[in-house]
Amino acid sequence: MAVAIEMGHTTAGSPAVLDLEELLATRLLVQGNSGSGKSHLLRRLLEQSASWVQQTIIDPEGDFVTLAERFGHLVIDAEEHTERSLQIAGERARIHRVSTVLNLEGLDAENQMRRAAAFLNGLFEIARDHWYPMLVVVDEAQLFAPAIAGEVSDEARKLSLGAMTNLMCRGRKRGLAGVIATQRLAKLAKNVAAEASNFLMGRTFLDIDMARAADLLGMERRQADAFRDLERGHFMALGPALSRRPLGLRIGPTDTSPRNATPRLMPLPEATLEDARAIILAAAPPENIRPQRRPSPDLLNQLMAAKSAALEPGPDPLEQLLSAEELAERRERVDRILRAILAEPDAGFRAIGVLYQEFVVRCRIEGLGSAAPDLGEFRRMLTHARAGVGSDLAEDDAWQDVSLRASILPEDMQGIFMMIARAAKEGWPCPSDAAIARAYGSHSLRRAQRLLNYIEEQGLIVCQLDGAGRRIVTLVELAWATAPGDPNAEELPTEQGCNSASP
Ligand SMILES: Nc1ncnc2c1ncn2[C@@H]1O[C@H](COP(=O)(O)OP(=O)(O)OP(=O)(O)O)[C@@H](O)[C@H]1O
Ligand SMILES: [Mg+2]
Repeated sequence: MAVAIEMGHTTAGSPAVLDLEELLATRLLVQGNSGSGKSHLLRRLLEQSASWVQQTIIDPEGDFVTLAERFGHLVIDAEEHTERSLQIAGERARIHRVSTVLNLEGLDAENQMRRAAAFLNGLFEIARDHWYPMLVVVDEAQLFAPAIAGEVSDEARKLSLGAMTNLMCRGRKRGLAGVIATQRLAKLAKNVAAEASNFLMGRTFLDIDMARAADLLGMERRQADAFRDLERGHFMALGPALSRRPLGLRIGPTDTSPRNATPRLMPLPEATLEDARAIILAAAPPENIRPQRRPSPDLLNQLMAAKSAALEPGPDPLEQLLSAEELAERRERVDRILRAILAEPDAGFRAIGVLYQEFVVRCRIEGLGSAAPDLGEFRRMLTHARAGVGSDLAEDDAWQDVSLRASILPEDMQGIFMMIARAAKEGWPCPSDAAIARAYGSHSLRRAQRLLNYIEEQGLIVCQLDGAGRRIVTLVELAWATAPGDPNAEELPTEQGCNSASP
């Protein structure tokens, strides 16, 4: 008996089904530009097949954790585990046949690749006794199997590409059915794409992607032009598990929704000019310093390296074309958009990726598309704003030193360090775990503790508890120390101004 998964309706109105057993043998590739409905499609497929087959979702944005809530998947927060323990978790998931969501949110590209690879290898390298069928869904597959070398280390790319190749090329015998989705076919490694025999092609704008799609589907490029006009949620299906000839279909509704909904236009919030100044003009770290991914404990060398890097700024082509006034005006508008986003009630707890997406959309709406800061720059702006580091400090010499030290930390931690440094400088009570988590955009108190541990391991701070269990943080070398603060306090003392980023 074949298991038919209903994906939606054909454009002719009849049910569009996917043959699950055939899919297990022949794999699936989903392609479509951002917003074409790929993640929705994956969700529909996962929901409809959840009761039939074990599943795992490699989830770069943490979108699918809501699916776990409904269907009982185990969510694994990759950020909290080492590669080795993820590999073991993968093996155990297979042995015990537990459906999982590997949430890779919050990790940088390098670690997303390494940890996804470890988990996939665990699924793959398991004794024959456990080769039960399993769907392995990878959203944003180009992140894990990139066509060209990016910023990540060669080792991470090799690991991740190897795991994806195993999944798509050699997984079938082991019961692993790869289902991969990508925005840009041209960005996905060819050997990984080529192993899928089923395709769902959504709206595609770029010629290069269209050409790759046409090649994969064995269509003429002229025919593939039709992909340009597909609406959101509409896909062209082809393959043994779907249809023997190209078939238009509309994906049906889902029971669960993505945790991160698409941003919608809303009136700009009101903020006083003073608030705006504090948020937007927060002290920035020195420019053109790329924090090292794995800072070694040798602080002095790193600071030296950072200093010399700061002396050689690279030219920004756009900046060279614009006058100083135009640049200032552009910056002001970008700042206003950030301010508006941060003034939304839940802004403190939304993932950076989601905030950034909304930010970029708003920049585009304002005609600032190409002027929008990249994600790294945005992260920096955001953590500073969230940590409430105000402009009054920017001029301060000692504070410049703090900025320089912060630059050895990953970008998203720099604001936290500066928030603590600020408290230490002013002799304020040490921020509580809740305050630190909030400034980081998280609800997790454990994450706040891990952040502090990490910053301490880098040799920037020393944490101590006094007799009453209150925490004191001292800045190494500067010898500024916070007043004792209760780590478990819910609210943070208002004079720290750390709440200035939210109403
Ligand atoms: N078939 C559909 N029916 C109803 N809503 C849909 C459908 N497909 C997509 N949507 C909605 O459209 C929006 C964009 O869809 P989705 O997030 O799936 O796009 P995507 O292709 O994954 O984009 P990205 O590449 O940026 O992740 C979402 O809000 C989603 O709920
Ligand atoms: Mg998506």
